[in-house]
Amino acid sequence: MKLFLDTANVDQVAEIASWGVLDGVTTNPSLVAKEGKDFKETVLRMCALVPCVSAQVTATEAEGMKKQAVEYSKWHKHVVVKVPMTVEGLKTLRFCKEKGIKTNCTLVFSVAQAVLAAKAGASMISPFVGRIDDAGGDGMLLIADIMKAWEHYKFPTEVLVASTRKSEHILRAAVLGAHIATIPYAVFKELPMHPLTDTGLKKFMDDWTKTKR
Ligand code: E4P
Repeated sequence: MKLFLDTANVDQVAEIASWGVLDGVTTNPSLVAKEGKDFKETVLRMCALVPCVSAQVTATEAEGMKKQAVEYSKWHKHVVVKVPMTVEGLKTLRFCKEKGIKTNCTLVFSVAQAVLAAKAGASMISPFVGRIDDAGGDGMLLIADIMKAWEHYKFPTEVLVASTRKSEHILRAAVLGAHIATIPYAVFKELPMHPLTDTGLKKFMDDWTKTKR
């Protein structure tokens, strides 16, 4: 399973990358706006830290998306072009597939959208589980359904569980065999924690101080 950080903050990427478990980063226009830094420079700094950085197109028509996709893909070989799940986005995914440009289809909320994006040649699809939960649904049920469909058709497209809100989303993504989860910084920091690890380690350390050395 690959683990990505969902952020546009380069310091956070550097910190989690130093753990040796980080496979990539997903950004989106909202995250980039929040940091208030230059987009291209941010993406390039992240590309120096991890092998896969999603950078989202902002055009809404296929021609504009394709132009941005070609431009971003020239920035660095670690760039993955993020394309929204729209009809224009599908055209762009097909174009990118033919040009050998890696893509991440974002804003996926149904199995139908997932299948369309895979057929259009997306390298990854991003179902947004947290936003489904927020709307009163069950985001992880969508992941279960997509993974079931993927078993039938063996699509090469990786399923990237996005819009995660809590560690339980990551655990369930792993159990369902999702290929990737993208995780907000605060949730990533919680993942190594377990109260029994803390009490267990304290006991080992206490006992060690009583040991003749
Ligand atoms: C994924 O690539 C998106 O950047 C992200 O997961 C969206 O999450 P949100 O619903 O918390 O904004």
